[in-house]
Formats: sequence, structure tokens, C-alpha cells
Amino acid sequence: MENKVREVFKTRLGFLLIAAGCAVGIGNVWRFPFIVGQYGGAYFVLIYLFFLITLGIPLLTVELAIGRASRSSMAYCYENLESKGSKWHLNKWWQFSGNYFLMAFYVVVAGWMLYYFLAFTFGEIPANYTRDHAAEQFEGLISSPITMLLCVIALVILAFAIVAFGVVKGVERYTKPLMIILIVLLAFMAGRSCTLDGFSEGISFYLKPDYSKLEGNWGEAIWAAMGQAFFTLSVGFGAIAIFGSYMSEKHKILNEAIFIALFDTIIAILAGFIIFPACFTYGVEPDAGPNLLFMTMTVVFSNMAFGNIWGALFFLFMLIAALSTMIAVFESTIAGSMELLNISRLKAVICNFVIIMGLCLLPLLGFNVLSDVHILSENSGILDFFDFLVSNNIMPIGSIVFVLFVCSRTGMQWDKFITQCNIGKGFNISSKFYYYFKYVLTTIVIVVLAIGYYKLFGDALLNLFK
Ligand code: PHE
Repeated sequence: MENKVREVFKTRLGFLLIAAGCAVGIGNVWRFPFIVGQYGGAYFVLIYLFFLITLGIPLLTVELAIGRASRSSMAYCYENLESKGSKWHLNKWWQFSGNYFLMAFYVVVAGWMLYYFLAFTFGEIPANYTRDHAAEQFEGLISSPITMLLCVIALVILAFAIVAFGVVKGVERYTKPLMIILIVLLAFMAGRSCTLDGFSEGISFYLKPDYSKLEGNWGEAIWAAMGQAFFTLSVGFGAIAIFGSYMSEKHKILNEAIFIALFDTIIAILAGFIIFPACFTYGVEPDAGPNLLFMTMTVVFSNMAFGNIWGALFFLFMLIAALSTMIAVFESTIAGSMELLNISRLKAVICNFVIIMGLCLLPLLGFNVLSDVHILSENSGILDFFDFLVSNNIMPIGSIVFVLFVCSRTGMQWDKFITQCNIGKGFNISSKFYYYFKYVLTTIVIVVLAIGYYKLFGDALLNLFK
């Protein structure tokens, strides 16, 4: 059941930045600003931070501990830790499928980043663009399935090629320096935001709580904030557990979890500093939705000296953030399918490539050929549905399963979990947290899920009983 002699990350920073590289991605730079915009700004940010601390960090520790204790990916992490005869391992099938649904829409958004990188590199975006030009450009992109497909194919091939080198050799080498450059670039762009006319308006939208913006929309906002916290930290279906499985025993798990969460949050918050002042400067509505990042940034760069160079650089690094996540998830699905189906790495790469390319066609065509398909609401498409499935369902429910697993006597067992967390140097987790994990954390998730489902299906249910 899985070889115990596993590669271990060479350096601690290597491990931390790669795990952070998996957490940092479109969730920070694309999803976070557009959701904050849709739910009215500052209050939403506060709720989101609340969930990061109360749910996100504990859940990161759970996944890292499961990974480090089992020294296995999702394929056998349950089997290696559960007691004989128990059925915890059956959860891996649906949790594992979360990776595929995630990548199906993730690669589409990453493809948009590649498109904008190329557009800036080849000088396709002229100076003094307005909001309307930028909107037109985005519309042009999403109405062309061929352009989007070419971008997606290029990226998926690149990510699979990197994974083929193996984790330590392939991923550690690239991710480490790139994550550091990414944060520097974002900090520079955020600093530059201060010079924009709409800076103070943008910042007060982003950071000054205004109750009226949430009125009547609390339930949905809370649900969305929890989904964002799960999405951005990658918790719920073992994507982070795999890093735990390659982790050394020199440091306590809580330290590493706090670092990952902090790094991830700094990037997301910086993204907000870049986007919102730009919205108010160039007249882009902050609640524009999924095209928010692309519209605002195109206008910003096209109105800036040497905008093409800055634009190309910016989207290159956004792309790298997305790519490092794709690499991590592909590594997880490839390692998982090799172990589960007992097939070679090459076969696993081919199968996974075919599955991802097939699945991503649905969200991709949802913007054009299948644009009449609306599953959740009148103005949401297939991509939104995939996102909803992953962030608001698979991740929260998967996280509850992980927590119950570490608390259960037939699962990993609480004592073993605490011992595992506290190996090495750093902050201890007290065994008294049992009650918090088992009762408080799970109750928060269940209550928020219940509110969310009620918001979504409540009216339909009430109508049934009328
Ligand atoms: N956290 C990643 C991002 O912000 C998304 C992700 C979710 C990655 C789940 C892996 C697993 O882009």
C-alpha cells in the first residue's frame, strides 16, 4: 500500500512556497476581487477573514497532518490511517473527483490569463483604452471557443510536462523563485494604485464597512465568503494533503498552516488594492463579475507608460500563479490515479489529460455554443455551476469528512492527529481543541451550508408545499 520511502522537500522554504503556490492562484487574483465586488466590499472581506481563521487554518492543519502521517496522496491516505474494517476510504472517490471538476473550469480562467499575456506581449491592446473597449475585448474572447481552447491546450500541456519531471525535481525548482517575484510585482502594482484618481473611493469601498451594501443579502454573502475561504486555501479534497505527504518532520504543522494562510491572504488583499482603485478610476463597476480582473487591468495598463510591458508582466505572473496550482492539482490526480489503478506515470498522464480536456469543454462552451444553459440562475453559466459545485459543496463537505476522520476512533484518532501535528519545532496544538474541531468547526460549516441551500432552493421548496 504505497512505498514509505517518499521524496521529501529539500528545503523548508521550498515546501512552504510550493504549498503556498498551490493555494495561491486564480482564487486570489481573480475570484477574491470579483466576489468582494459582488457582495459590496468591506463587510464581505471581514466575514471572509473570520472564516479563514476559524475554519481555514484548522482545516489546513488537518490536511497536512493526514498527508504527513499517511505519507500518501488521496489514493491511500485513508487506508493508511483508518482502523481495519472501517469505510472512511470510500470518501476518497468523490473527494478525488473534486480535483477534476475544479480543473475543468480552472484551466479556462487560466487560459484567459494566457490570452491577455499574449495580447499585451504582441501589442494588441492600444493606448487609452476605455472601459467599453475592454468589455468588448473580453466579450470577443469568450465568444470564440477556438481561441479559448488553444490557450487551454497550451497551458494544460505545459503543466503536464512539468509534472512529468516529478515533484521535487520539477516543481520545487520553478515555484520557489516565482512565488517571491509574484509578491514583489503585486506589491509594486498595489503601490502604484495610490497614484490613481479613484484611490480613496476604491479603498473605502474595499475596506470601509457599509452595512447597507449587505442588507438583505447576508445569507448569500456568508455562504460565498466561506466558499472563498475554502477555495483559496485549497482545503477539502486532499490537494494540500499531498504536500503534507512530502513534508519533513522538522516543523510543527500549525506553523506551516499559518504561513500558507498568511501568504495566501497577503496576495488576495494586495489584489484588492490593485483592482478597486482602478475600478473607481476608470468607471468599471466593482460588481462586474468574472470579467472584473481582465477589464480593470486592461484599462489600467493601456493608460500607463510602457503599459504593454507592464501588462505582459502582470499577466505572466498571474498565469504563473494559476500554473503552479494546476501543477499541484495535476500532480495530485496523476499520483492518485497511478496508485489507485496501478498504472505507469505515462499512462496516468495520458488518461488525466484526456479527462481534463474533455471536462473543460463544458465551462468553455458555456460562454458561447452552450450559452443558453443556465443551471443556477438566469445570469450564471456552466462555469459558475462548476465553481459552485466545488467551492460551495465538495470542499465544505469534504472538509467535514476530514475533520470527523481525525476525530474518530475508527479514523486517524485524535491522539495520533495531535501527536502528528506537534512533531518538530513550533506552535503546539492542545489536545483540548478536540471539541472545537469536532463540534464548533463542523457546526459552523453545516449551518452556513444550510443557510446557503435555503437561499438557493428555499423558494422552490416552499412553492412545492403551497
Ligand atoms: N487555492 C487555489 C486558488 O486559489 C484553488 C484550489 C482549490 C487549488 C482547491 C487546489 C484545490 O487558485
